[in-house]
Amino acid sequence: MSLENHRVVIVGGTSGIGLAVAKAFLNRGADVIVASRSEEKIQAAKTELGERASGHVLDFRNEENVKAFFETVGEFDDLVVTAGDGVMGPFESLPVDEAKSAFDSKFWGQYVTVKAALPHVKKSGSITLTSGVYGQRPPQGASALAAINSAVEGLARGLAVDAAPIRVNVVSPGLVDTPIYSGMEQTAREGMFDAVAQSLLLKHVAKPEEIAEAYVYLAENTFTTGSTMQIEGGALLS
Ligand SMILES: NC(=O)c1ccc[n+]([C@@H]2O[C@H](COP(=O)([O-])OP(=O)(O)OC[C@H]3O[C@@H](n4cnc5c(N)ncnc54)[C@H](OP(=O)(O)O)[C@@H]3O)[C@@H](O)[C@H]2O)c1
Repeated sequence: MSLENHRVVIVGGTSGIGLAVAKAFLNRGADVIVASRSEEKIQAAKTELGERASGHVLDFRNEENVKAFFETVGEFDDLVVTAGDGVMGPFESLPVDEAKSAFDSKFWGQYVTVKAALPHVKKSGSITLTSGVYGQRPPQGASALAAINSAVEGLARGLAVDAAPIRVNVVSPGLVDTPIYSGMEQTAREGMFDAVAQSLLLKHVAKPEEIAEAYVYLAENTFTTGSTMQIEGGALLS
């Protein structure tokens, strides 16, 4: 129970990777505060996570709301951010506004969240952001997402210097089976998962729990900062 009595804030902790991160921290003895936009998802997450979890409605793109949220939270140990919209599409035809909107979410949302959280994070604490394997190995149609993920990783290196001794790291997942793909038609989704699984050294798409352990590691390990942990089933080597 190395994280016993830690207070952990997970922005995006009501679904997918973030929800699995919340469970993993609870298993280590921490108390968790999950935040996202949908009241419905927050209620469902609280029911699933139990009494050591609380939840708040928050859109991390809104700087004033994010500041007010962290003032309510007060001092805490570890920040995890898993919220963020991606964007995919052919570079020539993807509207610039769509790329900017994804930047507003996944890059600027994480930037704004760290800025508002920092005065409340204990000096012994940690911040872990989220990028994605397309930052290192983009397929076709991922130029904007590759730029966003690379920007998040660069931000964490800068913040590791600016926020020290608070540690700042990034988890970069490969393909993970989460509700982010729930908008896809089932056959198309399963086809994509199968194709990606076959292309990987480890021959399966990740479960959120496999990714969540990386966030716990980065909160626990007191000598890691400015790093990006790639958890991608061998995508970078295949
Ligand atoms: N799944 C993958 O294959 C994969 C691969 C590489 C990287 N990633 C990255 O991992 C992160 C998590 O993805 P996931 O698959 O776990 O997605 P997910 O299941 O859709 O979860 C996203 C979470 O973020 C919250 N959220 C989204 N926009 C928000 C906003 N503006 N303000 C506050 N909360 C917001 C959502 O809740 P609300 O809707 O209630 O706001 C939800 O709790 C994302 O950054 C994604 O790009 C995922």
